Amino acid sequence: MSVSKIIKQRRTVKPEEFNGSIIPSYDIKALLEAANWAPTHGMTEPWRFIVFSGKEGVQQFGLLHANLYKQETPEEQFLQKKYDTLLHKPDKASHLFVVAMKRGDRDNIPEQEELAATACAVQNILLVAAEKNMAAYWGTGGMCYHPALKAHFGFGEQDKIVGFLYLGYTDKELVEGFRNTSVEEKTVWL
Ligand SMILES: Cc1cc2nc3c(=O)[nH]c(=O)nc-3n(C[C@H](O)[C@H](O)[C@H](O)COP(=O)(O)O)c2cc1C
Repeated sequence: MSVSKIIKQRRTVKPEEFNGSIIPSYDIKALLEAANWAPTHGMTEPWRFIVFSGKEGVQQFGLLHANLYKQETPEEQFLQKKYDTLLHKPDKASHLFVVAMKRGDRDNIPEQEELAATACAVQNILLVAAEKNMAAYWGTGGMCYHPALKAHFGFGEQDKIVGFLYLGYTDKELVEGFRNTSVEEKTVWL
């Protein structure tokens, strides 16, 4: 399939729609390899991945995520339903990547460029996942942006978690993609 076809056909699939099948590790490595070819200003290559593998691995992430929520939420605000959602969200995933931007110390490379490069790395993953008929979901809910989460993985204050990538397969037909406005409405030609 051509790259432009894959770009248009790639769809977000919610982890609840996954079927529990496991992605072979050579395909997971192919996703990571694609990520590493993202464009990068000054070759800072700021993308970082923590990979949770297989049923036990993704459930370990769910437990960690839910427990961090419990630990960091004042008792009167704690919702058992939210805890359970975080705990079980990855249940049908095969792998889960925590994706981070590791901020370099080069003053001439602005933070936004290191975030942009990391987002490009994520898109590379999503496109290769689509090419390989995987289901993928980029989530930023729960504790994604909480300082306790990045600290847990050893990231510093200036680093950022950019999302959780849930990966697996689905038996469902992909939904029709849509965009609210055409690219013409977002473009000025001079
Ligand atoms: C930075 C970023 C964060 C996202 N976070 C979430 C999220 O927390 N929950 C969610 O349901 N979808 C999330 N998405 C996925 C979008 O909902 C999805 O891309 C959008 O609905 C368009 O659908 P498509 O990816 O199939 O084209 C996120 C996407 C991006 C780029």
